[in-house]
Amino acid sequence: MNLVFATHNIHKTNELRDMVEGRFTILNLKDIGCEEDIPETSSTLKGNALQKARFVREHYGLDCFADDTGLLVDALSGRPGVFSARYAGEGTTYEDNMNKVLREMQDKTNRAARFITVIALILNNEEYCFEGCIEGDLLAKPRGRHGFGYDPIFRPTGYTQTFAELGDAVKNKISHRALAVYQLLDFLFKKL
Ligand code: IMP
Repeated sequence: MNLVFATHNIHKTNELRDMVEGRFTILNLKDIGCEEDIPETSSTLKGNALQKARFVREHYGLDCFADDTGLLVDALSGRPGVFSARYAGEGTTYEDNMNKVLREMQDKTNRAARFITVIALILNNEEYCFEGCIEGDLLAKPRGRHGFGYDPIFRPTGYTQTFAELGDAVKNKISHRALAVYQLLDFLFKKL
């Protein structure tokens, strides 16, 4: 069965393909011929995930799911949160965003942070949401070469290495996105 993942992000697409282990064929926006950037104007992760999934449903008539993820840092009152993709401004890189967080965290002793992913699924005109969260802390300097985004500075609780050091095999089993995807898959297996 085909499942449309409403994302242009090839890292996320590959992570999902890895997680579903061939039980579904994951198509992304490029695969369905959608080149445009889908608006993400909500003030919540859930709102943005629903906005993206509804866009695909309305414009392409396809059942689909979408995710929105944020890094929430305690010492920054939950920032960057819903602004994680553009924390250093529009059109900036992963590195720019990470460096802004590092600068803001320079004098902070409370390093606690978490990643939260919300997945919105639209199936047969019904909407469902699933949430995954992983706790951790932020390092003062990036470490590791795998993953993307804030992975080089995020160390999940119980591990000595960052997501970027742990690599895909570990990250894709324990991450915020994996935890949300497991719920999505459980749901789909029961439903379909
Ligand atoms: P999105 O809106 O879900 O694409 O995620 C917003 C931003 O959060 C991305 O641009 C990345 O900077 C960051 N992000 C999302 N998922 C991850 C992850 O798994 N690891 C590290 N950073 C992530």
